[in-house]
Amino acid sequence: MAAGKGTRLKSQLPKVLHEVGGKPLLEHVIRAAVRVVPAQDVYAIIGHEADRVRAAMAQTGVNFVLQAEQRGTGHALMVAREALVGENATGYDHVIVLSGDAPLITPQTIARLLNFHLDERAAMTLLTADLENPTGYGRVLRKKGGSAEVLAIVEEKAASPAQKKIREINSGFYVFAVKELYGNIGKLSTANAHHEYYLTDMAGVLRKVGQRVVAWKTENSSEVLGGNTRAELADIDQAMRLGKCRQLMDDGVTIFYPATCVIDADVEIAADTVIEPYVQLLGNTKIGGGCRVRSYSVILNSKIGDGVLVRPGSIMDEARIGAGAVVGPYSHLRPGSEIGEGAHVGNFVETKKIKLGKGSKANHLTYLGDAEIGAGVNIGAGTITCNYDGVHKHATIIEDGVFIGSDSTLVAPVRVGKGAYVGAASCITDNVPEEALAVGRARQVVKEGWARAKRARK
Ligand code: UD1
Ligand code: CA
Repeated sequence: MAAGKGTRLKSQLPKVLHEVGGKPLLEHVIRAAVRVVPAQDVYAIIGHEADRVRAAMAQTGVNFVLQAEQRGTGHALMVAREALVGENATGYDHVIVLSGDAPLITPQTIARLLNFHLDERAAMTLLTADLENPTGYGRVLRKKGGSAEVLAIVEEKAASPAQKKIREINSGFYVFAVKELYGNIGKLSTANAHHEYYLTDMAGVLRKVGQRVVAWKTENSSEVLGGNTRAELADIDQAMRLGKCRQLMDDGVTIFYPATCVIDADVEIAADTVIEPYVQLLGNTKIGGGCRVRSYSVILNSKIGDGVLVRPGSIMDEARIGAGAVVGPYSHLRPGSEIGEGAHVGNFVETKKIKLGKGSKANHLTYLGDAEIGAGVNIGAGTITCNYDGVHKHATIIEDGVFIGSDSTLVAPVRVGKGAYVGAASCITDNVPEEALAVGRARQVVKEGWARAKRARK
């Protein structure tokens, strides 16, 4: 179920596309679902901003059911009837219903819920949990005497003061026997606070016709948390990221101050890498072993080899860093930056679409764009590749072993041949042959005694 607007978020973005752990809520739920049943048997019920949600989830390979008007969770299942039992439907015996706004759910829990449902031969099985603070959730009314059987679910708004004290909540995850669900779903009414069809009312409806309704309570209550408000989203995000940090630590990664780090779900880090406080590792970033990522670095969709040192405040986006390289402090590696093994990129160096060869160094105050730089090259402080003429981008080629003196500008397209030297403060507009020295600057003029004479004039 993913058709709701998410009114409580006060957002232009539909609720299920709000992100936690670096991914939309719904994507987390779908990812869990497709590990229990094949994607072709998963149906996402969408409605509010359906096109946007469909586009965002297209790559998951699941089916979509359109709930054009959102008249409640019960109504969502009414709309799915055609897909589940219609003429062209596969003919399912049971349906697992998941809430698209509860992203911490695991495939293991879904599978256990399904098994419990089948073992109990129930018409409806709900996943429940005991929460410290159950406010806002539907409460589960069980049959007396420690029974698995459920009498009804009462929504927060309809609950009596005594019922509000019940800590066992309805998670919004269910399994239904398809025949019993659709044989009775027409009995749902909208006589409630929201004038909606509540799926939760199926518990009472099915009991009334003598069907078995049971609940299975998970020990891991944080798995069922739903994100209805920004505050709840923040709690879920934190829980997810702490879980990710714990998993990485179990795999041998040191994380000094996990609560301050933002590490997305798909990030991979090998053992013996150290992550310092206040680091963000985003997207599908992969980091090798024995690295150190120092504070305030933000790394997105980048691949870092073994033994790399990322000094504080470095920013990378779609960069590749070879083993043993040193980056930062305050380097900005933009898309297409390939830093070779053992290379150094230092303070206030910006790179874009470049190759920096093995062991080469660009340590200070430099812009390198659209450049192919060989091995063992030294790029002096303040070097700039002038790659853009206002219309087109041009390439700079710097071959192995070149020395570029400080404060040089290389006006592309230009090539500096193997082993050549460029004198400091040169403006290089023509190719430099191998092993040559190029100096492109105005000659220095010295006027002896000029300063003394000026002071005398005053
Ligand atoms: C629901 C349950 C509540 C439970 C809670 C758990 C009902 C009536 N209440 O409340 O007992 O404790 O989940 O998180 O079901 N949706 C649709 N179509 C609709 C309405 C909702 O697809 O017409 C989707 C939403 O996008 C959402 C999910 O169903 O992903 C749950 O809806 P929501 O409005 O968040 O229900 P809750 O108020 O949280
Ligand atoms: Ca919800």
